[in-house]
Amino acid sequence: MLNGKRILLIIGGGIAAFKALDLIRRLRERGASVTPVLTQAGSEFVTPLSVSALAGMKVYRDLFDLTDEAEMGHIQLSRSADLVLVAPATADLMAKMAQGMANDLASTLLLATDTPVMIAPAMNVRMWDHPATQRNLATLRADGITVIGPNDGDMACGEFGPGRMAEPLEIVAALEGALRAGPLAGKRVLVTSGPTHEPIDPVRYIANRSSGAQGTALGAALAASGAEVVFVTGPADVAPPAGVQVVRVQTAQQMLEAVQAALPCDAAVFAAAVADWRVASASDRKLKKTRDGMPKLDFAENPDILATVSQMTQGRPALVVGFAAETNDVVENATAKRKRKGCDWIVANDVSPETGIMGGTENAVHLVSDAGVEDWPRMGKDAVAQELAARIAAALE
Ligand code: C5P
Repeated sequence: MLNGKRILLIIGGGIAAFKALDLIRRLRERGASVTPVLTQAGSEFVTPLSVSALAGMKVYRDLFDLTDEAEMGHIQLSRSADLVLVAPATADLMAKMAQGMANDLASTLLLATDTPVMIAPAMNVRMWDHPATQRNLATLRADGITVIGPNDGDMACGEFGPGRMAEPLEIVAALEGALRAGPLAGKRVLVTSGPTHEPIDPVRYIANRSSGAQGTALGAALAASGAEVVFVTGPADVAPPAGVQVVRVQTAQQMLEAVQAALPCDAAVFAAAVADWRVASASDRKLKKTRDGMPKLDFAENPDILATVSQMTQGRPALVVGFAAETNDVVENATAKRKRKGCDWIVANDVSPETGIMGGTENAVHLVSDAGVEDWPRMGKDAVAQELAARIAAALE
């Protein structure tokens, strides 16, 4: 719930501005008040009348509107909220923010505010991928701004890829996370989840039975504890949690790249079931049956993402947590694995088929750390996630 929370919502000029209307309703439904600010470009996409009708408030639009200055100066406006939300955040608005420009009402408010700022970027995929936008994004993150999305998908311009604004409910969940004074507020946590798919040829791949359920529960629990969560997921069965930044990958190599791009962070939890090997040279054509028998597949070792991050000499997260799915000698193997990989904790579980844990809703884990081994009772994956999130919060204090 967002009871009594005051959100200053800056609506930028992009096609995703239409989602800002629904966003206002969702925020108000949860008890928040929304003070809307519409940029000039934003008013090309949604009308001030619809925005003010939904917000139940006047829309602020112009820096030099004297009536507004008399009623409420822009400095006061920028500080009268619990959080400033920019949705959609266009490439132009992000560039202005990164440069500290203040040449219209929105940019002036963003420069003058002393409250937390959250942005939900939305733009064409190439604009998003452009080095300039990525530079601005890194600057904004370093300035402490929380970024929600963008999501992958079909875009209004007909292209496909990252650039779609996060859905209103995802933004609401992120806001709830940020405004809840949770124990992980202000912390950035990376989670990997799901299996990886390693291609054999364009239609076949090597995979594993990980559903992504434990990683998803963990992402949700960390977000609910107030963390900014970057959720790097392989092709999982379960949908990623709301209120996290989702990065979708297929292969172990892509997962490593996504993880490295998400650093720095305060803690990293590697719940993904990463394939240990990939086909050394995946065929770019579908392999055919031949009279000469089976195709011969050569394997190459995948990067060990957990070990790579655990052994970083600079910028290592303060807490690195690995998972160990074992079918025998669970604790012994996990203890050895913690040393070998160099992580701080290992969450070990028995994934023998008779346990029903792989793909199931329950888990029975052992937490291996330098303090020893804790055996947790069998419980729901959500409960394991909540307990782990609480432990992570305590460790980062
Ligand atoms: O060695 P094993 O695969 O059992 O280790 C499991 C742990 O290591 C998990 O936390 C998993 O996410 C991580 N891992 C990884 N990269 C790999 C293999 C495993 O991050 N290539």
